[in-house]
Amino acid sequence: MSRTSVVTGAASGIGKATKELLEQRGERVIGVDLHDADVEADLSTAHGRLALVDSVRKLSGGSIDAVFAVAGLAAPTSATVAVNFFGTVATLDGLRPLLLGSPSPRAVLVSSMAALMPSDEELVGLLSAADEAGALARAEVLAKEPATTGALIYASTKLGLSRWVRREAATQRWAGSGIPLNAVAPGIIATPMTADFISTEQGREALLQSVPMPLNGIADPIVVARLLAWLGGEENTHVCGQIIYVDGGSDVVLRGDAVW
Ligand SMILES: NC(=O)c1ccc[n+]([C@@H]2O[C@H](COP(=O)([O-])OP(=O)(O)OC[C@H]3O[C@@H](n4cnc5c(N)ncnc54)[C@H](O)[C@@H]3O)[C@@H](O)[C@H]2O)c1
Repeated sequence: MSRTSVVTGAASGIGKATKELLEQRGERVIGVDLHDADVEADLSTAHGRLALVDSVRKLSGGSIDAVFAVAGLAAPTSATVAVNFFGTVATLDGLRPLLLGSPSPRAVLVSSMAALMPSDEELVGLLSAADEAGALARAEVLAKEPATTGALIYASTKLGLSRWVRREAATQRWAGSGIPLNAVAPGIIATPMTADFISTEQGREALLQSVPMPLNGIADPIVVARLLAWLGGEENTHVCGQIIYVDGGSDVVLRGDAVW
């Protein structure tokens, strides 16, 4: 039987490429985004997160096979905390019950190689504690200086997500329920999120200085979509709690010998 998947961030970039790839393979995809999607919901709000779960339950008839939590923001604002961390966790937690009826349920989220960049320890701690009010307040403080402390917000949300996957994946809720939970960590991907930075030679060079990609350079969103599709597909029976870098080598260059 054809699989039914939910893809957040389905209107653009990596989410759009993932939706299109799964559909080409004959799957049914319920796309979620702020606009141009089957389910239009704002994942930065409690209301939007509830609406997502309600709408997916109705559209799917109560059972889905995979969740791809892709939606995200890169702005140096507190909204980035609300969407990237709490919106993603709410998507996975909220849709998890709908996965339980699938013969091969899967869950994948999109972190980033930015998790290796400088972050704000206090914010990451608040994310680990699932303290949304505290995390948003801390982000408001960081956002006052967008170019310096504000720039720590995005990396902090992605580090928080990678740690969340490590802490959750082996528990009864995921592995114990037969659900592989994993993350991908892209390098620089050519999407609307990065378009302003990579549209000039100078911008591209500057970005590649901090995110070195010796293997094939900046990637198209389909590259990430293919990895997501595998992690969220039937063939993935034993990959558990991994943060898979699809980054042209930036993790290797930056971390060298360091392994988990
Ligand atoms: N592009 C990159 O270089 C790169 C690198 C590493 C990780 N990522 C991550 O990949 C994911 C997808 O990014 P992209 O590059 O495709 O960006 P994108 O801007 O093309 O797409 C992001 C999508 O998320 C949606 N979204 C944003 N806020 C939302 C909200 N409140 N509720 C619902 N949907 C919302 C947007 O509307 C948009 O369609 C993000 O999590 C991003 O952090 C991107």
